[in-house]
Amino acid sequence: MRLVVAGATGVVGRHVVAQAAAAGHDVVPLSRSTGQDVVTGAGLAAAMAGADAVIDVTNVVTTSTRTAVGSFRRATTNLLAAEQTASVPHHVALSIVGIDGETSGYYAGKVEQERLVAAGPLPWTLLRATQFHEFAAQLVQRTSVGPFVVVPAMRTATVAAAEVAGALVTLAAGPPRGRATDLAGPEEAEVADLVRRYLTATGQRRRVLRVPIPGAAGRRLREGVLVPGPGADRGRQTFDEWLEQAPALS
Ligand SMILES: NC(=O)c1ccc[n+]([C@@H]2O[C@H](COP(=O)([O-])OP(=O)(O)OC[C@H]3O[C@@H](n4cnc5c(N)ncnc54)[C@H](OP(=O)(O)O)[C@@H]3O)[C@@H](O)[C@H]2O)c1
Repeated sequence: MRLVVAGATGVVGRHVVAQAAAAGHDVVPLSRSTGQDVVTGAGLAAAMAGADAVIDVTNVVTTSTRTAVGSFRRATTNLLAAEQTASVPHHVALSIVGIDGETSGYYAGKVEQERLVAAGPLPWTLLRATQFHEFAAQLVQRTSVGPFVVVPAMRTATVAAAEVAGALVTLAAGPPRGRATDLAGPEEAEVADLVRRYLTATGQRRRVLRVPIPGAAGRRLREGVLVPGPGADRGRQTFDEWLEQAPALS
């Protein structure tokens, strides 16, 4: 199959590209670094030609509701329009466990993305996953201030990005499913603890500041709204196993 991977250079996108190619698919990688932009629409029409499915694992790094909603709305609208023009029969998107009803910050953008995919013109599959093990490394990259890493107080059950990628490739190769079964990691944990373990494993001497986010959304994070329900599929690799294999994000 010919699979377009939007966000091909990202944390999960790199695994999607590698695993799709290993499974024998014809992979079309798409990102700004290869000349396509899902937010402006640049280069999308050419990338879609002959595609059997598009896997959207693009991202925007923001805590602003306006930026998150605007970016995911434009990206999804542009992708779906280009896919419809090229008669692509299947759109696959990756979202996040437990974000129902969130109206602020980054998660509001993901809710908007989900809404557009489900209401859109194309047959679709939406996989919700928990935060990746790699999320600990992403937080260190994105929220370090001097010797501190500022980490929101939140509980989750992180999953290996490689296992999420495997699920996305399998879903893209099959028929459109609508909402797929949620995918979570094997263990529940406080994210600040995971970041501490990541810092220790990678020999970094930064200190973790666990910060409760004010308001109802912050309380939901602390109470475990992102932890999956009992019906979720479970990845196999634990955070400690991931740390042994891949402690640094390149
Ligand atoms: N990280 C997690 O823990 C986690 C957990 C569950 C679900 N998710 C979801 O998984 C998706 C991917 O997350 P990630 O952490 O792998 O993202 P990431 O590492 O930030 O990578 C984002 C990818 O999107 C590309 N991209 C960004 N803006 C683009 C644009 N305007 N046009 C085209 N490509 C663009 C980036 O490449 P360029 O910069 O070269 O454009 C990169 O390939 C997100 O939708 C996220 O919500 C993430």
